[in-house]
Amino acid sequence: MVLGKDKSVSRFEDNGDVKPSYRFILSRSEHKTSFKMVSGLMVIYQYALLVLDFLQFCVCSFLLMIQAGWHVIFPKQLKNVVGEIILITGTGHGIGRELALQFSRLGAKIICLDINEANNKQTVADITREGGTAWGYKCDVSNRGEIHSVCTKIREEIGQITILVNNAGIMPCKPFMKHTPEEIQKLFDINVFSHFWMVREWLPLFITSNKGHIVSMSSVAGLVATSNLVPYCSSKYAVKGLMDGLSEELRYAGRHPDIKITCVHPFVVDTGLAKKPRIRFPSFNPITTAERCAELMIEGIRREDEMVCIPPKDFYCYKLVSLFPIGVQKAFVDFMDTGVDEHDN
Ligand SMILES: NC(=O)c1ccc[n+]([C@@H]2O[C@H](COP(=O)([O-])OP(=O)(O)OC[C@H]3O[C@@H](n4cnc5c(N)ncnc54)[C@H](O)[C@@H]3O)[C@@H](O)[C@H]2O)c1
Repeated sequence: MVLGKDKSVSRFEDNGDVKPSYRFILSRSEHKTSFKMVSGLMVIYQYALLVLDFLQFCVCSFLLMIQAGWHVIFPKQLKNVVGEIILITGTGHGIGRELALQFSRLGAKIICLDINEANNKQTVADITREGGTAWGYKCDVSNRGEIHSVCTKIREEIGQITILVNNAGIMPCKPFMKHTPEEIQKLFDINVFSHFWMVREWLPLFITSNKGHIVSMSSVAGLVATSNLVPYCSSKYAVKGLMDGLSEELRYAGRHPDIKITCVHPFVVDTGLAKKPRIRFPSFNPITTAERCAELMIEGIRREDEMVCIPPKDFYCYKLVSLFPIGVQKAFVDFMDTGVDEHDN
């Protein structure tokens, strides 16, 4: 390295003369050496960062494992829902109706949506008779325009909701090729797209207030596929995909940690939706009543669990079986011989 005149970097004197600047001029080999030194330092820095990141991941995972184990022994405290405004779809019958009644008994105000106006009015009347507060709206959730106009009306007449429960669903049972394209389209409009449109109606307000809870009804058929239910299983897997994706997007870089997501996976519930269930071991795989299903769902929502299986042991069963090779999983399905048989409507 020498101290030399560098004419390419000159400056003008007051009298107009050009005066060459002096600076250290590196020879070609010195340039190479210092470049190597800088890139070597960069590599060391990147490895150090990676090691630190990995250590942070290990410590966090360890603490989260302890926390999860702790919550298995001492379940999380249930959040209070007094005064919450809860919109539930499919409240005219079955699980939706039970959710509306039980949430109301806990002090929440319920907005009931169903395509069946008479049944929905009955649910609202039953809540009111018990001293609760409920509003009923007729809405065909397979129709995006209707969802938008009913939600606009709700915002004008009632205001913001705090919990959204996408529950309405249908379940035609027959071999794949017996479903018409129109039936498959309709099934996706009700079981999947209604969830998308409802979330789009309410998520912006949840984000503005940094508070809200989105609950969607999937099924055990959204975790394990079964014959005679191909479109239904696809729709319930799609609901799980929507909920998992939303959860990731909301938590990404700590954007909206206070907006909660819950996806629910019940096995057969005695509402009449599954008309011909086939269960080889009913004591291991019992049919749940709509009342019990709603009770377990509400517990999961109040604990802010992301995934709720009904009965709860199905969660561990699903995780355990998923560890095995696909062939073993299929052999297990054959052994359990559990599913639904075809029916006409
Ligand atoms: N029953 C089960 O065995 C079972 C198991 C797993 C998951 N699920 C899911 O739970 C949810 C509720 O099931 P359920 O057993 O209570 O059903 P259900 O048939 O007893 O009640 C469904 C309600 O949704 C309403 N509905 C149907 N189509 C609608 C539409 N287009 N717009 C608005 N409302 C509509 C119906 O009028 C009815 O009141 C569904 O998403 C279902 O897939 C049910």
